[in-house]
Amino acid sequence: MARASGVEVRDVDPAVAPGELAEESALRPRSLAEFVGQPVVRRQLGLVLEAARRRGGAPDHVLLAGPPGLGKTTLAMIVGVELGVPVRVTSGPALQHAGDLAAILSSLDEHEVLFLDEIHRMSRAAEEMLYLAMEDFRVDVVVGKGPGATAIPLPLPRFTLVGATTRAGMLPSPLRDRFGFTGHLDFYDAADLTRVLERSSRLLGVDLAPDAAREIAGRSRGTPRIANRLLRRVRDYGEVHGSGDGSVSLADARAALELFAVDSLGLDRLDTAVLDAVCRRFGGGPVGLSTLALTVGEEPETVETVCEPFLLRQGFLARTPRGRVALPAAWAHLGLAAPAGAPLPGGPDLDGPDAPPLFR
Ligand SMILES: Nc1ncnc2c1ncn2[C@@H]1O[C@H](COP(=O)(O)OP(=O)(O)OP(=O)(O)O)[C@@H](O)[C@H]1O
Ligand SMILES: [Mg+2]
Repeated sequence: MARASGVEVRDVDPAVAPGELAEESALRPRSLAEFVGQPVVRRQLGLVLEAARRRGGAPDHVLLAGPPGLGKTTLAMIVGVELGVPVRVTSGPALQHAGDLAAILSSLDEHEVLFLDEIHRMSRAAEEMLYLAMEDFRVDVVVGKGPGATAIPLPLPRFTLVGATTRAGMLPSPLRDRFGFTGHLDFYDAADLTRVLERSSRLLGVDLAPDAAREIAGRSRGTPRIANRLLRRVRDYGEVHGSGDGSVSLADARAALELFAVDSLGLDRLDTAVLDAVCRRFGGGPVGLSTLALTVGEEPETVETVCEPFLLRQGFLARTPRGRVALPAAWAHLGLAAPAGAPLPGGPDLDGPDAPPLFR
């Protein structure tokens, strides 16, 4: 974690090698105007911030929800920049004791932004303290032990909490309800990812051919972080095997993506392993999340938050109460024939009350 010009910046992409951290951070848009895509969230957040600016006060608490790598941390930092206030950064797992949170809250300055990443992983005690802090801008500090213990109310400055989560469904509703605005980030379409890549290649000094940008965008799983990562690998390829003049062609991009085993739809090793396990090992499912995770050698949370949202959205998998099932697109993508009786896309809502008995 480093403090730079009043804004605490911490990069949280575990998939980026340390040498690339500075570069990754340099690619982060610094203002709403620079932030590509997500037009709905951008307009909603822009309005909330502009109104607060005009009132000269702190905006309501903001929750940012969505799969990894779509821009939650980036937007949290932008909130600070747009309001012209510092951003303090912490995360749910770092707040195991209510005292940890009390210490951070009481050290905030008026109107400061507190960015709480992975807010769904906070301890219960910290969560309850946060309720009071968000609503009444105070915490109760307990002094002493046993019957003689007293709670001393400690007023807090008017701060803005920006929470980020990949698991909005795991947040208890009292916590969710205390956010004045929730921005749901969705996967980016290929046109927006192409714009992300054009911007990043400019910043990295890479002369990326427009068709190469489109090729990378189409294989980035709707995720800017992945687009930027693939761009760096394509740049590497261009530097070593390319024309030598700093330009990257479509052929370079294709060759690099093939070398790094990113398939035509952007599925990586883990995505393919998950699809392969559901189809080949479990005959198309249903298979439970923990069994599936064990089979591919990953944590259930990784499979659920990193892999599944994209596979669900692509129509490869469906979630049912009895487990995950493969849809025809998954069989087709793996070059396999779907067995008779496999679930159809766009059929009954397999999660819903009208689901056929198999899926209930
Ligand atoms: N809208 C965007 N425009 C341009 N670049 C973006 C955009 N959103 C994200 N990025 C790029 O993608 C990278 C990842 O974004 P960010 O760290 O904000 O994701 P996140 O949602 O916080 O992910 P995680 O859940 O893993 O913490 C950033 O470093 C940034 O360069
Ligand atoms: Mg983040």
